[in-house]
Amino acid sequence: MPHALTDASLTALLRDMPKAELHIHIEGSLEPELIFALAQRNQVELPYADVEALRSAYAFTDLQSFLDIYYAGASVLLHEQDFYDMARAYLARAVSDHVVHAEIFFDPQTHTARGVPMASVINGLYRASRDSERDWGISCALILCFLRHLSEEEAITTLAQAMPLRDRFIGVGLDSSELGHPPEKFARVFAQCRDLGLHLVAHAGEEGPPAYIWSALDTLQVERVDHGVQAQQDEALMQRLAREQIALTVCPLSNQKLQVFPDLAQHNLPQMLEAGLMVTVNSDDPAYFGGYINENFEQLFAATGMGAAQAYQLARNSLQASFVGEARKRAWMEQLDECFVRHGAEDAIAAG
Ligand code: ADE
Ligand code: ZN
Repeated sequence: MPHALTDASLTALLRDMPKAELHIHIEGSLEPELIFALAQRNQVELPYADVEALRSAYAFTDLQSFLDIYYAGASVLLHEQDFYDMARAYLARAVSDHVVHAEIFFDPQTHTARGVPMASVINGLYRASRDSERDWGISCALILCFLRHLSEEEAITTLAQAMPLRDRFIGVGLDSSELGHPPEKFARVFAQCRDLGLHLVAHAGEEGPPAYIWSALDTLQVERVDHGVQAQQDEALMQRLAREQIALTVCPLSNQKLQVFPDLAQHNLPQMLEAGLMVTVNSDDPAYFGGYINENFEQLFAATGMGAAQAYQLARNSLQASFVGEARKRAWMEQLDECFVRHGAEDAIAAG
């Protein structure tokens, strides 16, 4: 019988373990303080008097109520340096959470619609990624997301605009308002991206039905599903996700704040993990949802009573589900095992 760690030891382990973050919208890492600093720098008028007034507007009832404020916050981003500063701040925070690899979503249409050149967006984020790899040793890659409330034609135009910078992002995703915008709306642009050799992911089953997850898998042919928590309503889908080991990038604090689950104690991540699904823990939009990746781990574990064996599985899944080569995955998994031994949690390795 494996011995249980104390609460304090488990928290220390969750913080210290090497992990990958696979679901982070970089615009969702903009803290209110940085929003106001950029607004001043760029002379952008905000409909909030100060940082406190903005923060007090962060009371969401569903995905759309969040997206309205999230797009307003992103309006302060105008120049390449703004994108650099935003990504640098996130990556510094990720390093302190022992994130060894981050795959970062960005929403170019939010910015190009305001006249910001595509190159300012991608070059700012890319330069911050490279500088952070050099300075702090964190590995990072960019994933361009299409806004699903806009048309497929606009997504195709966006892809064309990004093509001169094709070597600076590794994949594409699909985000924004889910209900009423099923994955199959973007079948042609995802087929183009597949032909270009880009990795493919999509948000599906955050608020939307299991049918959207089937469509993301079968029509878009995604390699990972972002959120995917509604899969639990469909037993055949659960069996497929487990059999094919399709990664789900789950975001517990996001699901709580957007009222996908009434509270973290009722989150279905423990059941999905128990059912053998390739589940990972991520932060989604940490500046808006009350915490970065380690707070997601800590609060979820405190609420559900999961222990070291689940921590090991979740960290391992995050490394396994990342879009890096096998040699780097193996090196990080060795670091993961060493971390669990150092914390006296080697039983969890055998259990995992
Ligand atoms: N864009 C930023 N966060 C998102 C989320 N949780 N769902 C869909 N689109 C998003
Ligand atoms: Zn998301």
